[in-house]
Amino acid sequence: MDYSFHSLQYTRDVPRLLDFLHGQEMGYPRFDEWLQRTEHELIAGYKQVIIAESDRRVVGDAIFQPHKEIPPLLEIKNMRVHGEFRMRHFGGFMMRQIEIYAREQGFHGLIGDIRADQGNVKNFLIAQRFTEAVTLSLYDSSVPDTVMVKFLKAKESDSLLSRIGKVEGLITLIPTQKRLRILR
Ligand SMILES: CC(C)(COP(=O)(O)OP(=O)(O)OC[C@H]1O[C@@H](n2cnc3c(N)ncnc32)[C@H](O)[C@@H]1OP(=O)(O)O)[C@@H](O)C(=O)NCCC(=O)NCCS
Repeated sequence: MDYSFHSLQYTRDVPRLLDFLHGQEMGYPRFDEWLQRTEHELIAGYKQVIIAESDRRVVGDAIFQPHKEIPPLLEIKNMRVHGEFRMRHFGGFMMRQIEIYAREQGFHGLIGDIRADQGNVKNFLIAQRFTEAVTLSLYDSSVPDTVMVKFLKAKESDSLLSRIGKVEGLITLIPTQKRLRILR
C-alpha cells in the first residue's frame, strides 16, 4: 500500500492523467474534445487537478476551475475514483482539499453537475454537504442534470442560488455546440 495525493507537479503527470480520464468516458457528448482542451488548460494552470495514486498508478482525479459565468464559485469539472478504490474516502478527501483551497482563495462556494439519475454520486455529494440547486438538461435535451452546490459563506447563499438558477437556465437556451464549449 503506497497512496499519494498531489497536484500537477511534472509535465509527465499530464499523459498519465489523460490515460486515466480516457478510460472513464461517461457518456457526455464530445468527451474527447473536452479532454484535449483539459490538457491545455491544465498546463496553462486555468484548470487544476488533484491526482490520487496507488503504487505510482493513477487511481483517481478531481479537476476544478473557477465557474465561467459565476466567478465566486469554484466548479468541480470531473471527479473519479477507480472502482477498486471506492468507498475508502478518497473522493471525500479530495473534495475536502478542494474546499480548503476554495476557502483560502475566497470563493463563496463549490458547484458541480451530475446526471440526475446518478443517485450514488448524489449521495456522495450529499455526504460532502452539497445540496441540490436546480435540475435541467445541460448537455442533452433528453437527459436531465442536477446542479449541486455547497455554499461556504451563508450570507451569500440566497443571492448565489438565484444567480445559479438564472445562469444555468439561460445556458440551456444557447445552441448545443456553443453551450458545450461554455459548460465544459
Ligand atoms: C463519486 C465518487 C467520486 C466517490 O468516491 P469515493 O472515494 O468512493 O467516495 P468516498 O469513499 O469518499 O465516500 C464518502 C461518502 O460518500 C457516500 N458515498 C460514496 N459513494 C457512495 C455510493 N456509491 N452510494 C452511497 N453513498 C456513497 C458515503 O456516505 C461515504 O461515506 P461513508 O463511507 O462513511 O459512508 C466515485 O464513486 C466515482 O468515481 N464515481 C464515478 C464517477 C462519477 O460519477 N463522478 C462524479 C462525481 S462529482
